[in-house]
Amino acid sequence: MYGLVNKAVQGLVIENYGEETWDKIRERANVDVEMFISNESYKDSLTYDLLVAASEIVNQPASELLRLLGHYWITEIAVQHYGAMMDAGGNSFVEFMRNLPNFHGRVAMIFPNLKPPTFTILKEEKNSLHLVYESARNGLEMFVVGLLEGLAKRHGIKIKIDQSEFKSTQPVEGVNQTLFLVSWDSIS
Ligand code: HEM
Repeated sequence: MYGLVNKAVQGLVIENYGEETWDKIRERANVDVEMFISNESYKDSLTYDLLVAASEIVNQPASELLRLLGHYWITEIAVQHYGAMMDAGGNSFVEFMRNLPNFHGRVAMIFPNLKPPTFTILKEEKNSLHLVYESARNGLEMFVVGLLEGLAKRHGIKIKIDQSEFKSTQPVEGVNQTLFLVSWDSIS
């Protein structure tokens, strides 16, 4: 994945646990890169190794770290560094969700080798929507949960997310598909 993702993992760890803890994590993960370059591609395994090492060293489940990474991604990475793109994504949570399927298409203009996730809205109701997440990567579902929670917070609503396995009528070899049922209270 692009260095931007590893930089986010580094930022999250340093902000919450300090530089020393980050150095221990890097050592445990056998990562000798001191400064990640945002627009350079790194092996996916490097990111996973960092997350596994972080989980062991700060004694938090990897799923919880992924969720926090999703929050951090929205508040620190996306809003602060890609504010215009985030604003163009929509003025409300629902609007942002409607534009989410095309969002990484715009991101790919900055990061041409992007292997983005795919999002599809299957159903939209007044206070809920069904969102399908597809990725060739494994185990990032809680990152998506954190991202969605971060987006909801940014737009002033609180959401509930239920996750279920998704059996597509058109399964794709090597692609994981997850269905998220996202709901919220009425917005007055
Ligand atoms: C300006 C904001 C954003 C930027 C610049 C951005 C950029 C990126 C980049 C560089 C990657 C790594 C993929 C690769 O290197 O191949 C990535 C992955 C990912 N992004 Fe975004 N992204 C943004 C917003 C979002 C939002 C709002 C969501 C969803 C709610 C999202 C969901 C994901 C997920 C789930 C992945 C993990 C890759 C996977 O599942 O295969 N991103 N994004």
